[in-house]
Amino acid sequence: MSVRTPRLPRPSRARRAFGAAAVTAVAALAAALLPTGQAGAAGTTLRSLAEARGIYFGTAITQGDLGNPALTAVAGSQFGMLTPGNEMKWDTTEPSQGSFNFAPADRIVSFAQGNAMKLRGHTLVWHSQLPSWVSGLPPVQVKAAMENHITNEVAHYKGKLYSWDVVNEPFNEDGSFRADAFYNAMGNGFVADALRTAHAADPTAKLYLNDYNIEGQNPKSDAMYNLVKSLKSQGVPLDGVGFQAHFILGQVPSTFKANLQRFTALGVNVAITELDDRIQLPASTTSLTQQANDYATVINTCLAVTGCVGITQWGVGDADSWIPGTFPGYGAATLYDADYRPKPAYASSVTALGGSTGPSPTPGTSCKVTSTVNAWNTGLTEDITVTNTGSTTLNGWSLAFTLPVGQTVTNSWNASLIPATGQVAAQSTSYNSTLAPGASTSFGFQATHTGNTSPPALFSLNGAPCTTA
Ligand code: G3I
Repeated sequence: MSVRTPRLPRPSRARRAFGAAAVTAVAALAAALLPTGQAGAAGTTLRSLAEARGIYFGTAITQGDLGNPALTAVAGSQFGMLTPGNEMKWDTTEPSQGSFNFAPADRIVSFAQGNAMKLRGHTLVWHSQLPSWVSGLPPVQVKAAMENHITNEVAHYKGKLYSWDVVNEPFNEDGSFRADAFYNAMGNGFVADALRTAHAADPTAKLYLNDYNIEGQNPKSDAMYNLVKSLKSQGVPLDGVGFQAHFILGQVPSTFKANLQRFTALGVNVAITELDDRIQLPASTTSLTQQANDYATVINTCLAVTGCVGITQWGVGDADSWIPGTFPGYGAATLYDADYRPKPAYASSVTALGGSTGPSPTPGTSCKVTSTVNAWNTGLTEDITVTNTGSTTLNGWSLAFTLPVGQTVTNSWNASLIPATGQVAAQSTSYNSTLAPGASTSFGFQATHTGNTSPPALFSLNGAPCTTA
């Protein structure tokens, strides 16, 4: 098979034009969260900016996240690739031998499809979240159980996934193989066997090995490098290596780019698969600024490496991250705060992806938004009330927000909305342009939808972020 997979297709000319024209909103919102005096980023979504650069920008969600409208609104609009956080792992998909359960992962696949997102399958063969019946098997039975698991799961999602993390975390820190059920039963040959089995079940999915602490050059990444080299020389179907990139603030390795490049030189793609950047709490202006630098470094590194196909953040916002539970005292590791407001790292990411910078918010502006959706099978109406909770009278206002993917505005009242999809700005009209402190005004719109009837998210009034009720 051809192992050097191309980057995702470049967007059409029309799409690039839209990206350039659709100035603002979210980026202006990010601007509002930057330290005083710093200009903020303006642009479209992470997703559209990344795609315009020929890469994807993704996130991970779990099935519990699907019940959180604020989370899903951001996930479905800002990210173009989705990884199920837990639902495709062995303990969920085959909790007892031969008994498969794909319902939780199917719900995430449906969400991704409803938002026109691609999917990374995660993960088929891993020592963790592995049911005890597998580790309890006599070694002689492990190979057949592994092949059966891979065949059934990959076949279930055949044609639906961009890629699979076929083997996850095979190495110890010193570069030796982890002595898990698979290695103990089959030696290092389990990796090639797993890849061949997955390829037979879905020849179109890109097949990856995935690990953490392999971002810089060290004994563990040397071991991964040697494994990839050996697999390629044997003609084993392997398309890429996933670098989880669970970073600690300020510690993106200096050898990151050179390390990615030595892998792509072997004829595989590389992807950042679980990015986060943990901060010792409480976060400060200084640490959030360093985090913004770290995220920009990661994005710039991927963009600089031909064969780096995309970046996935692990979780949507700080409230969804695994970090606080696993590293007590650390957190604030993602692009969004616990209320899904973009952090400085969001603004630096937009800039790194080629978004333009925009104006700072009007001083003294703050706001509150309430919204109501009434939906039917193909359409909806949305009524929005914005309150000026700041100290400044606004003479002319613009309320920016993110419309869920699939929604297209068809008409509006009491405000003009531009553009009809994505990052929308609702502009005041002649009769409601003055908004005094404490005053509210209401407007609305009608839209078509393709299944996602969530309300808009990430409201900002004249560049200042709004709270939502
Ligand atoms: O489902 C049970 C629930 O029934 C129980 O009440 C609850 C009590 O703690 O636990 C629930 O299971 C948790 C599971 O996530 C589902 O939420 C586990 O305790 C918890 O350990 C598990 O954590 C996951 C972790 O992998 C396990 O290693 C994280 O959500 C998930 O984000 C994390 O993801 C991994 C990647 O797959 C591989 N790379 C590292 C990354 C971070 O650890």
